[in-house]
Amino acid sequence: MSSPLPESWSGRLALDRSHVWHPFTQMKEHELDPPTPVIGGEGCDLVLANGNRVLDGISSWWTCLHGHGHPKLMAALERQGAKLDHVIFAGFTHEPAIELVMRLRPKLPPNLTRCFFSDNGSTAVEVALKMAFQAQLQKGQGQRTRFGALHMGYHGDTLGAIGVGELDNFMTSLFRPLLLRCERLAVPEDPRRELNADLHGWAESLEVARHSICSFFEIHGNDLAAFIAEPLLQAAGGMRMWPPELLVELRAQCDLFGVYLILDEVMTGFGRTGSFFAHSQAGVAPDLLCLSKGLTGGVMPLSLTWATEEIFGCFWGDYAEGKAFLHGHSYTANPLACAVACASLALFEEQPVMEQAGRLHETMKSAWGRLVDLPAIRRPRILGTVAAAQLVDPATGVPHPAESRFGWRLHRRALDAGLLIRPIGDCLYFMPPLGTPPSRAEEGVNTITNLLK
Ligand SMILES: Cc1ncc(COP(=O)(O)O)c(C=O)c1O
Repeated sequence: MSSPLPESWSGRLALDRSHVWHPFTQMKEHELDPPTPVIGGEGCDLVLANGNRVLDGISSWWTCLHGHGHPKLMAALERQGAKLDHVIFAGFTHEPAIELVMRLRPKLPPNLTRCFFSDNGSTAVEVALKMAFQAQLQKGQGQRTRFGALHMGYHGDTLGAIGVGELDNFMTSLFRPLLLRCERLAVPEDPRRELNADLHGWAESLEVARHSICSFFEIHGNDLAAFIAEPLLQAAGGMRMWPPELLVELRAQCDLFGVYLILDEVMTGFGRTGSFFAHSQAGVAPDLLCLSKGLTGGVMPLSLTWATEEIFGCFWGDYAEGKAFLHGHSYTANPLACAVACASLALFEEQPVMEQAGRLHETMKSAWGRLVDLPAIRRPRILGTVAAAQLVDPATGVPHPAESRFGWRLHRRALDAGLLIRPIGDCLYFMPPLGTPPSRAEEGVNTITNLLK
């Protein structure tokens, strides 16, 4: 049950209500139902101001890897703070940025040799889109003024990023007149990730999907600067797990038509899908790779856009040629964020983080499998440590009407029961930090099961 808040919070919440505009929120709802104050984070738990502890079942918007307040990450932050907090990155460089690049390089496909820094997932995508267009332009392919993207994709909230995300949803459709020109391709979800899969006819469906990729490129391939996709898992689009075979086909078609392949691993990177990067499960390498979220273990905002030598070469020349990539942000390559990112990557070397994530996957898989029998659930599925399912009305078997705010009510009930989940529409998902003890993950799934029963 929810405990009362300490008195000191009533004044703070009044100030929050008067002045703070929260993301992805109809602020009117906070009049009656204010945001939940959080005062601490320890391991896989968040500590609420009312004293309750909740398991962070969404890894704090898909960022947290090793748990909150990890001593090695906090120590790295403190050490770096004592040396250099921040410096302009145009014309200057520093040790944590160089160390970060050197730590990541061996984990990347060898073709990705050049790294551009920015601050968040959306800007990593903006950088990739601009680089792809400018590179094409500077090698005489200026007619490639469009992008290709997957239906149900999500790449962030800045105008460039929403231009290549799914348009037909409430978040982005109103901005349609302002957006990039983008052609969209649908891919089917992969039933092999489902825990009660019916694989009947799957081989044929996969073949049809492969053909539709080829047809898409025959129509649009010569107009596209780049194609962007979230490899294997379209997260904000509803945890849609799509087949690696189709990523292989996408790579092949991009090669055939001279289109750059941008892989957005902002969410899937750093062990979340069962491998360090999701694209390695398909055995393909992108031309541009976007990383953020788990890059700093979920501690600081930072992002990277990795590019090939070929792309980098398109910008190379004398100053007067005007070929440089003129993009940057005030906090580009912030040394504190880079130092924490290095510490997070070091943990992958020093501790069996991926093995622990593998054990977490196994526990989550068997616990999540028990949802199969719940009438309120359809299509439970799992990829790495991301478990998802569709919420339906048990009486009718169809999704709850959006106005009923079923997902939001479930979120509030779960918080009272010690679990943070936040369904996306009718998609329920559970994604605790990689370092979550399996027994705690099992508890989290039990909480969900009890609430849905
Ligand atoms: C795949 C993907 N790309 C980009 C973004 C945008 O990242 P940010 O919210 O840091 O701008 C997100 C955020 O959820 C994402 O899931």
